[in-house]
Amino acid sequence: MALISYDDTDAAAFAASRELPRSGLDRWRHAVGQHLRRRAGTTVLDLGAGTGAWAGAFTDWFGVRVVAVEPAAAMRSHAAHRPLLAGDAAALPLRDSTMDAAWLSTMIHHVPDLDAAARELRRVLRPGAPVLIRSPFPGRHHRIALFHWFPEAVRVLRRYPDLARVRSAFAAAGFPVSSVEPVAQTTAASLAELAERLDRRAHTPLQLITDEEYADGLARLRAAADAASGPVVDHLDLLVLR
Ligand SMILES: C[S@@+](CC[C@H](N)C(=O)[O-])C[C@H]1O[C@@H](n2cnc3c(N)ncnc32)[C@H](O)[C@@H]1O
Repeated sequence: MALISYDDTDAAAFAASRELPRSGLDRWRHAVGQHLRRRAGTTVLDLGAGTGAWAGAFTDWFGVRVVAVEPAAAMRSHAAHRPLLAGDAAALPLRDSTMDAAWLSTMIHHVPDLDAAARELRRVLRPGAPVLIRSPFPGRHHRIALFHWFPEAVRVLRRYPDLARVRSAFAAAGFPVSSVEPVAQTTAASLAELAERLDRRAHTPLQLITDEEYADGLARLRAAADAASGPVVDHLDLLVLR
């Protein structure tokens, strides 16, 4: 079972509040660019592409072809990127050895059968092509603002697969080498902007805490926002498997 399923309300909330301005993603652009071999015809799979923001950014940043695959019809309906295919991590609508990299952004916790997904990625990726996973991992949340203001959301994060679990699933499927690095992003220009833009429906960890926990966290965040200045910089991990 996925942790949540994305209906139209969630998808609209995601499109409105989770798509980050590209100006805050320079470090991600640099970090991902280090791992992509770019030549004529390079094709990147964006798995669990959601509303397609990363697929569009990679197309513009790297000049590669990006094939977006997304199971939720509601998310696909908010995505402008093409090609955009319906499909699931465990059954990719792609031919063997056709992809030069796979990008999995904040989706690994939704995949019910990680081992099957790793095998399926091994099937569609060319030999040596990397799997690039952007995610918060259990125990590595200390530089992500959301978990500071909503500490109960750490309880939900503990249900996500941890680094060891993901590494072992991918090693068993034929991706024996891995590296991990935290990558900074500007999530909001200020704490006030973060508070203003926050939409619980767009964040799995916030959906799965209690209403009271959410209300308390929001009150803390709003009170702090009145006094704070400066951007909100978060660090999610980039896990690379080959
Ligand atoms: C938090 S969203 C992230 C969307 C996008 N990758 C991004 O970072 O903007 C998680 C996405 O994973 C998708 N997803 C859930 N289960 C999946 C599965 N089994 N295979 C592929 N994608 C899945 C969801 O439908 C949703 O669009």
